[in-house]
This record gives sequence, structure tokens and C-alpha cells, in this order.
Amino acid sequence: MDVFEAMEKRRSVRSFDPGRKVDEELVEELLRCACQAPSAGNVQPWRFVVVRDADIKTRLAEAALGQSFVADAPVVIVVCADLAAHASAYGRRGVELYAIQDTAAAIENLLLCAVALGLGACWVGAFREDEVARALNLARDIRPLALVPVGYPAREEVQPRKLDCKRLTTYI
Ligand SMILES: Cc1cc2nc3c(=O)[nH]c(=O)nc-3n(C[C@H](O)[C@H](O)[C@H](O)COP(=O)(O)O)c2cc1C
Repeated sequence: MDVFEAMEKRRSVRSFDPGRKVDEELVEELLRCACQAPSAGNVQPWRFVVVRDADIKTRLAEAALGQSFVADAPVVIVVCADLAAHASAYGRRGVELYAIQDTAAAIENLLLCAVALGLGACWVGAFREDEVARALNLARDIRPLALVPVGYPAREEVQPRKLDCKRLTTYI
């Protein structure tokens, strides 16, 4: 699958086939792709926590305001940013902007890789950060930015309406 097809096919997947596990090698491939993302100064501030433990997944779902599909996924990859990595390189701009942008690029790589591997995933950003940090025992500088539940899609998702890119663009 080329990158165009992966972008076209990618959908937020929120229901997973309960009978299918996700092999460790596939998770490693997702992380390898995430780590290919660009980052300011090549700092690579992204950090990952791979969660398969049922109790921790339940705590993540609760932290995500009760989005129960987070707990239903066979694996949840929590994508974090190491704010200290950017603080030393770029100060405030590094912490407030680059760390977030870099990590977002890694998340998108991961999502596209999931499509190419036949997996489904969803970028979950609505969660109480302090609860996620506690559930995962994160160090103070490690900020969780996304929960990404991953599994085999239970059904085909319909594409939500996308705005016409031409109307969002100014050519000068
Ligand atoms: C920063 C961000 C946060 C998001 N948070 C959530 C979330 O908390 N729960 C959820 O179900 N989907 C979440 N999504 C997924 C969006 O709802 C989804 O991308 C959007 O509806 C478009 O659908 P598509 O991904 O299938 O194109 C989030 C996406 C982004 C980029």
C-alpha cells in the first residue's frame, strides 16, 4: 500500500474485533514508523507506553472521560512528549510548540502505518492528563498527548465529511 492509499483509507476506528490480538511485531512496526517522523532539530521527543494490561486500559478509558472503546482495544499505545528534551534545546518554544508538533507527526505516522498493516486505530486526545500520568507512573516531564487504541477493525468505517481543501487555501 502506498502512502496515498493509506491516507485515503485511514479512518478513526473505535470498534475492534474482540477475537483478534495484535502481535508484538506489528506493534514494533507501528513504533518504528512513528519514530521516522520529522522533529525540530531532530530532537525526537516522542516517548511511548504500550499498554496491554486490562486494568490499566480500564483506567485509561476512565481518564478518557469514559470512552470505553479505549479499554476494548487489544493494545493502547500512549504517545507522550518528553518536554525536557526540547527545553534544553529550544527553551519555551521547544516545550510549548515543537514538542507537541513533533509528537503529533509521530502519531500520524503511526496511524498511517496501522492502515498499511490492516489495523485500525484512533487518535484519542480527550483525557485527563493527570489521571493518565498516574495510571502509567509517568515522570514529571513526560506529557501524555494521545491515547491510541489499536486493533483489527470490527467493521468498515464510513468517511466523515471532509472540507474542500481548495476553500481552505489562499494562493498568493
Ligand atoms: C487531536 C485529536 C484528538 C482527538 N480526540 C478524540 C477523542 O478523544 N475521541 C475520539 O473518539 N476521537 C478523537 N479524535 C478523532 C477525530 O474525532 C477524528 O479524526 C475525526 O472525527 C475525523 O474522522 P477520521 O479520523 O475518520 O477522518 C481526535 C483526533 C485528533 C486529531
